[in-house]
Amino acid sequence: MLLEIPGVLDAQKLAQARALIERGRFVDGRLSAGKTAARVKHNEELKSDARLMESLNSLVMGALLQHPLFQAAAMPCRVATPYYARYTTGMSYGDHVDDPVMGPPGGQYRSDVSTTLFLNEPDDYAGGELVIDTTYGEQQVKPAAGSAVIYPSSSLHHINEVTSGERLVAVTWSQSMLRDPDKRELVFQLYQARESLLESQPESATATRVDHAYVNLVRMWSEL
Ligand code: NI
Repeated sequence: MLLEIPGVLDAQKLAQARALIERGRFVDGRLSAGKTAARVKHNEELKSDARLMESLNSLVMGALLQHPLFQAAAMPCRVATPYYARYTTGMSYGDHVDDPVMGPPGGQYRSDVSTTLFLNEPDDYAGGELVIDTTYGEQQVKPAAGSAVIYPSSSLHHINEVTSGERLVAVTWSQSMLRDPDKRELVFQLYQARESLLESQPESATATRVDHAYVNLVRMWSEL
């Protein structure tokens, strides 16, 4: 499932995040890549002092983790500290799947859900689409600033070359309580049906039944 979540960061938080990023410096992104990814990775990553990174992470991750659609679609139990990536003219990230296990020894987690948060507007750069290979073919996304896009970490994906301007994103990974992407998708569909029923006919027996089925399906399938 490829899902776009608009408005994770509002204009004010975006401005704050960009101001913090401007105070840092960018280094070659290949330094943090796994062996195979390093061959195709061509971007830059923010390296900054711990205090600045902490402010930035709590701003960005606070907004993402509080978003009900992110919670419902990713069902995260562990979430990585994000990377901040910059693609300037000529930069791209070729086809790859994300590393399966991330984090330092003792604090490792499995990457089930990849999340990209777009920190600048699509008009600020040409190219730079996130292209994901799905069961229905390739899907390209280049959403508005403040949007998040989530997709299974197991899917083959790449970033098209930026041909002008600058693409700025935060990228993070979650271990999900629902490891299987098909189960996650099914549970998310039921969540959407439940939300719609609770909105349109909260007192109905159908809303109650769907709510119970959702809650107990999550209980049945969740692994922590
Ligand atoms: Ni990736």
